[in-house]
Order: sequence, then structure tokens, then C-alpha cells
Amino acid sequence: MSMTPNEARDLVASIPHWHHKFEIYPGVVTPGSYDPVFLWDKLQIDERCAGKTILDIGASDGFYTRRMDMLGGNVTAVDFRRKEAHGFGVMEKLYGKEFHYQHCNVYDINVDGVGQSDLVLFLGVLYHLPDMIKAFHKVRSLCGSTLLLETHSDNDFSKDIPAARYYKAASLAGDITNFWSPNAACVLDMLHDACFDVVRHETWGDRLLVEAVVSDDPARSRKMDIAYGRL
Ligand SMILES: C[S@@+](CC[C@H](N)C(=O)[O-])C[C@H]1O[C@@H](n2cnc3c(N)ncnc32)[C@H](O)[C@@H]1O
Repeated sequence: MSMTPNEARDLVASIPHWHHKFEIYPGVVTPGSYDPVFLWDKLQIDERCAGKTILDIGASDGFYTRRMDMLGGNVTAVDFRRKEAHGFGVMEKLYGKEFHYQHCNVYDINVDGVGQSDLVLFLGVLYHLPDMIKAFHKVRSLCGSTLLLETHSDNDFSKDIPAARYYKAASLAGDITNFWSPNAACVLDMLHDACFDVVRHETWGDRLLVEAVVSDDPARSRKMDIAYGRL
């Protein structure tokens, strides 16, 4: 914290695009397009971070990573962008701590490197992934207890039938990194088959939040074992 606010502002200005809007240094707020506090409050994890191993998949500018660290969590961050390519590296400098950061695609997270985390945050990432089931299978292998998942979720075209809408090219929000918007029933069923038990879920607008815990039922794991193994 030996930096002046102006030096901190210059560091923040060196990043061309911020996703998270938050006070990154006393009196210095990042020019992010997304206020993460709304979702943070819905996660209900303030009392659950201390002493826990936590994996923040798709950490972006690190708002959640830093906050969980402040609350006593042992956090590993993952993102397929280099930490210097977005605000994460600047967040570390201004917070005064370097996090364990895996620069990789979610499908390639090194399980040996992190083991199974008590808490896995998988927020705002699912709809960016071409293979949602494969991602859930991976996330299950990384999760020792609790998963918090948040995603874009279209429920207007089909509510009762588990279904996902595919978005061609950049037709979802003008962003070519978007692929699918699964409805809530689809997400819950995919989580079931990936060996998670849903504890609570909530939708607002076109977003969905799910909290789930791991299941060790071998009958359920068989489906994924077949899909990603060999017979
Ligand atoms: C919409 S942002 C969500 C950021 C944060 N989790 C939140 O909820 O505010 C998606 C983040 O996931 C990362 N991401 C997208 N696809 C990824 C993938 N296949 N593997 C790893 N990270 C990915 C992006 O770089 C970005 O930082």
C-alpha cells in the first residue's frame, strides 16, 4: 500500500478494458462494465470462506478472488487470459499479494496442481463454453464440496423441457465467445449427471445462480465415466 492514489490510477488506466467495477485501492474505482457486488450478495459466502480452499474459475479482474482472500479463503484463480491481459495483475499489485493463478482453459485445469477445492466458483463462464457437459465433468473433478454456478440462462423459449439455445457467431450480446444459453431445467439436469446435488437455485432476468454439493453416487458417475473414458 505504498502507492499514491495517482500512481494507482495510472496502473488502472494501463488496462484497456475492465470487467469488474470495484474500489481496487482506497479512493480508486476501476472503470468496469459490471458491478459484482449484486452477485456477491447472492452467493452468501461471507461466513464460509475462512480456512477453505477455493477455486475461482474465470476470475477475470479478480474482484471475487481478492474478496474471498480478505475473508480468509485460500484462493486459486483460473482464467484463459493472461493476468496481464486484464485487470487481475493490477489487482494483485494494488492488493499487495500474488495469487496462485492458472493461465489455462477450463478444460485444461491441472487437478494435480490444485487438488479438490472446498468451494468452486464458476461464475459467468458456462455460456462461453462450447462443451458444457465436459466442463461440468472437469469442475466435478476439482470440487470437494460446494459449487456456486452463475450463468446466462434463457428460459423464455422453453421452461419445462431441459434445453439450451445455441447462439451462432456473435449473436449473443455481440460477443463471439458466447455459445449456449441453457434454461434452468437444463442446467439442473446437467449438474445431476455431472454428480452434483442442487441445494438452491434462483433466476432473475436472463441469469441463473445455482448452489450444489458433490454426490459420490457411482451409478451417476458412470455416465460421465463412459462419455470421457473408454469402454
Ligand atoms: C463474463 S466473465 C465472468 C467473470 C467473473 N467470474 C464474474 O462472474 O464476474 C468470464 C471470464 O471467464 C473467462 N473465460 C471464458 N472462457 C474461458 C475458458 N474456456 N477457460 C477459462 N476461462 C474462461 C474469461 O476470460 C473471463 O475472465
